[in-house]
Amino acid sequence: MSSSLKKWEAAEITAFQEQFLFWYYQHKRTLPWRGTNNPYFIWISEIMLQQTRVDTVMGYYYRFIEKYPTIQALAEAEEESLLKVWEGLGYYSRARNLKVAAQQVVNEFGGQFPETFEEIQTLKGIGPYTAGAISSIAFELPEPAIDGNLMRVGSRLFGIDADIAKASSRKFFDEAFREVISHEAPGDMNQAFMDLGSSICTPTNPDCSNCPLKDFCHAYQTKTQSNYPVKSKKVPPKDVYYIAGVIENNQKEFLIVQRPEKGLLAKLWHYPLEEVSAETFKSYQTNYVKQEQQLALDLIAEDEPLDIFTELPIIWQTRHLGEVKHVFSHLRWHVLVFYGRTNGKFDLEGGHWFAEKDFESITFPTIQQKLVAQYSENQKVRKVL
Ligand code: ADE
Repeated sequence: MSSSLKKWEAAEITAFQEQFLFWYYQHKRTLPWRGTNNPYFIWISEIMLQQTRVDTVMGYYYRFIEKYPTIQALAEAEEESLLKVWEGLGYYSRARNLKVAAQQVVNEFGGQFPETFEEIQTLKGIGPYTAGAISSIAFELPEPAIDGNLMRVGSRLFGIDADIAKASSRKFFDEAFREVISHEAPGDMNQAFMDLGSSICTPTNPDCSNCPLKDFCHAYQTKTQSNYPVKSKKVPPKDVYYIAGVIENNQKEFLIVQRPEKGLLAKLWHYPLEEVSAETFKSYQTNYVKQEQQLALDLIAEDEPLDIFTELPIIWQTRHLGEVKHVFSHLRWHVLVFYGRTNGKFDLEGGHWFAEKDFESITFPTIQQKLVAQYSENQKVRKVL
C-alpha cells in the first residue's frame, strides 16, 4: 500500500461513531435476524448472507430456523433434508459445514455457542468475517466484520489503496476499522457499514451527497472517489460445455444421477450430463436448431409407449429442448438439453429413475432446476401446438 493513513483524533472518532450510529438507527433495514442476539440465528444468517443477497436469504432463513430451531437439532440433521432446505441457495458446502460446526458446538463446547472471537473461528466454515459478525452482533465484542463490501467502504473512508481482491490486503482494513469501531455498539456499527455499503457506498455511482460519513471520508474530501477501491480483475470463469439428456421411460420416470461425494455440487442430483468440446457443442447447437424446423416430420409419437423399439435402448427424439447457462464462481456451464425416450433397457452408474412427483425427495442444484424448467416450458409449448 502506498499512502500512509491519517491518524484519527479521539474527538473525531467519537463524533464519527455518534453520527454514524444516529444514521443507522434512523435508516436501518428491518431484517429477521436483527431482532435477536441469539448467536445461533445470527450465525445461520451470516453464513447464508455470504455471496448471497439479503432478499434471497430471507425465505431460506425462516425455513431453516423453523426446521432446525436449535444447534442440537442442526447437529442431528439428516444430510439429505439439510441440503433440501438449502436447495437453490448455492455453495452447498456451507450447509454441510454448518452441520459439522453444530456437532463441534455440541461435542467441544457442551452445546453452548462459544463466546470469544478465537473460539468462534475454530468452528468449521467460520472465517474472520463471520467470526467478527457473530462476536460483535451476538456478544458485543469490538471486532470488525470485514468482507468485500466493507473493504470497498473502508478503502474510500480511510483512503486505503491496497488491492481489495488480495487476501493479504485485509490486514490494512482490519487495522483501520478496529480504530473506529464503537465499543458500546460494535454489532450495530458493523451492520451500519453493511447497510451503508448496500445503499449509499455502492460499487458504482456512490451516493456521496446523502452519505452520513461524508465529513469523515477521505475519498469525498479529496474528490478521489473514482480511485477507490483498488481492485485487480478476477480471472474470468472458464467455459465448460455439456449435453444434458432428459431421458424418460415408459412409466413416465426420468433418469437422474447423483454427483460424486466430493467436489462441485457434491451429492446433488441432476439429469445425466456429458461434457463435450466447444466444437462439438457448437456443431450440435447449429444442427439441432436447424432440425427443430423439421419437428412436424418427427415420426415418433412421443406419448406412445416405445415397446416396439426393442433393439435400441434409447430413442432420441429430434427434440432439442434449448440451452441453459449457469455461472459458478469459477466456471460457466453451457448446457444443450435433449429429450429421449427409453424402453427401459438403459441405465447409468449412479443413476436412478424418479417420477416427477418424487423430485421433492432429492436435492436439485439451481442448474437442474433450470433444466427442469426448460423441459416443462417445452412441454407446455408442445401441448399448444
Ligand atoms: N450482509 C452480511 N451480514 C449482514 C447483516 N447482518 N445485515 C445485512 N446485510 C448483511
